[in-house]
Amino acid sequence: MAEKIIIDTDPGQDDALAILLALASPELDVLGIVAAAGNVPLSLTNVNIRKICELAGRPDIKVFAGCSQPMDGALVTAEHVHGATGLDGADLPEPTMPLQDQHGVDFIIETLRNEQAGTVTICTLGPLTNLGKALAKEPEIAGRIRQIVLMGGGCFEGGNITPAAEFNIYVDPQAAAVVFGSGVPIVMMPLDVTHKTLTTRARVEAIRRIGGHFSEVLVGWLDYFERFDVAKYGSEGGPLHDPNVIAYLLKPELYSGRLCNVEIETESELTKGMTVTDWWGVSGRPKNAMFMRDVDADGFYALLTERVAALAGRQAGARAEAT
Ligand code: BDR
Ligand code: CA
Repeated sequence: MAEKIIIDTDPGQDDALAILLALASPELDVLGIVAAAGNVPLSLTNVNIRKICELAGRPDIKVFAGCSQPMDGALVTAEHVHGATGLDGADLPEPTMPLQDQHGVDFIIETLRNEQAGTVTICTLGPLTNLGKALAKEPEIAGRIRQIVLMGGGCFEGGNITPAAEFNIYVDPQAAAVVFGSGVPIVMMPLDVTHKTLTTRARVEAIRRIGGHFSEVLVGWLDYFERFDVAKYGSEGGPLHDPNVIAYLLKPELYSGRLCNVEIETESELTKGMTVTDWWGVSGRPKNAMFMRDVDADGFYALLTERVAALAGRQAGARAEAT
């Protein structure tokens, strides 16, 4: 049976590829997608999610708007990485599929209550505001979540938005602290992993070779998205962060890491949003997160490329049938 997942996301070109990977994969049953405020404000992320679903030929997916602001303080965004729309690099039509009326936080709570306990995985690709709010509002839902798989944090790689903090955790450290303190099994895809999944020329070319409109859109996004990190790190290609969350669900054997204690710094101006990771087990604090550190990057791109090629093929077939 397919694994039931809720995706919480702030697209974001890398979020877009993660959503497409999930929608391309029969092993996953996407119960709904919740928009987070992060890379760009909520007013854009909820539209971007629907554009991506329509690109995938899935206007039936239920999309919800979550919170527009972090739990505490002002929203920090990342247009300098993702562009003014959050999805710069390819033009997609305005979506016609609806945004659901229900608030994203209530959707998370209701779904966890309605589905059998221990069967729903939450995948977060952005700041943790919606999940943190849901857990703070109704703490008993923690016991019903199968696992949380999240892109966020870093240890040996340091931070990306500050020297100490990764963007998703930095935007809402209070929410992250609630999530990491919830007792739910957590699998973390930190910068230590995602900085190893680089959009090298050969990997982007493999996606380009899929051909057609679909691959033009993906390559447009990848080319746009990598420019910032290539300039910053001098690497061949940029880190494709968020699809690691979905790839882990499909092929966990691609990843290796260690169960650690991870605590979130919420106070210090200097290190706010830091994921303090006890890799060496020196604190004696309870181990609350599977901190992934390594990935088979070629295996990751092979999976991603194969799945989006299959989705592109289905879409091309559907278009041909319609004409
Ligand atoms: C994370 O921040 C965003 O810019 C990306 O979409 C990813 O989720 C990486 O730090
Ligand atoms: Ca993201």
